[in-house]
Amino acid sequence: MAPLSVTKSFRDLNRLDFRILSVIEILMAKHEFVPIEEIIRFMKYTEKKIQLSLKRLKKMNLVFIVQRHYLGTALTFIGYDALALKALVEKNVLAQLGPEIGAGKESNVHLGMADDGKEFLIKFHRLGKLDFRATRKSRTFIAEKRHLSPLYESRLSAEREHKALKALYTKGVSVPEPIVQNRHLVTMRIIHGQDLFRIRRSDFGSEEEIAILFQNIIQEVKKCVQHGYIHGDLSEYNIRLNEENYPVLIDWPQYVNTEELHAVEILTRDCQNILNFFERKFLVKIHYDMSEIIQILD
Ligand SMILES: Nc1ncnc2c1ncn2[C@@H]1O[C@H](COP(=O)(O)OP(=O)(O)O)[C@@H](O)[C@H]1O
Ligand SMILES: [Mg+2]
Repeated sequence: MAPLSVTKSFRDLNRLDFRILSVIEILMAKHEFVPIEEIIRFMKYTEKKIQLSLKRLKKMNLVFIVQRHYLGTALTFIGYDALALKALVEKNVLAQLGPEIGAGKESNVHLGMADDGKEFLIKFHRLGKLDFRATRKSRTFIAEKRHLSPLYESRLSAEREHKALKALYTKGVSVPEPIVQNRHLVTMRIIHGQDLFRIRRSDFGSEEEIAILFQNIIQEVKKCVQHGYIHGDLSEYNIRLNEENYPVLIDWPQYVNTEELHAVEILTRDCQNILNFFERKFLVKIHYDMSEIIQILD
């Protein structure tokens, strides 16, 4: 997936193109594939202009065009990217999209630049695969089944992540400072430093320094629990160390609330992952009594 092509798209897209993308987005609440006829009815432009624009959008991979018992269209992830990035530009959050600086299982992470030249991070949530060939002809797309749409799921995921970051950052937990969220995009401050999984023994002096890092991580996890949040996917891949080697907990869409059914198991697994990482990486035995953190749940 290459949202970078969006910057090129931006130059090539006109007002009508963007209007059509947003009309498709609106009508996708009702249809898996929006009948092109309905777009024509919805808009004040001539059919010919709309057809030409759709052709261009398809060529740029911003929409799918599919022949069902009617001719239909739907946004691709790149089309959804274009709408979300445009919204960030209009909110004066984004001036320029920068290169990709990270990718996880379910996201692409890019640099973004604001009007004042300040850099920040844009995380594009990408849940599920958009492949119109895989969807069966007969499937009807009703409101209750919106969760079937990868675009919608990606938006929910971004909303959850933004919500957690906002709550935790406000409470003083060590997480990236969130900026804004739009559709499937979350923007936040960059944590300069490195991912925990990349650290080496030589990054530390004494064994004591390693023990302190472990304690700092547990300390932050505890603060989350005190505010009702459990990360749910904590590991060396979702912790960054800032330039002072202090841990910052990232990647929050799958968080669970402390009152949820499996809170104890999930919190135990999160802490165990960290414990295992330290023991494996540094060949040290960490003595940590997990019950200390679990009891906060009671
Ligand atoms: N605030 C940030 N500052 C710097 N790098 C980040 C930040 N957030 C994420 N990253 C980088 O992007 C990668 C993917 O982000 P993450 O939120 O973990 O998404 P995923 O769900 O795809 O794993 C991280 O492993 C990290 O290297
Ligand atoms: Mg991650």
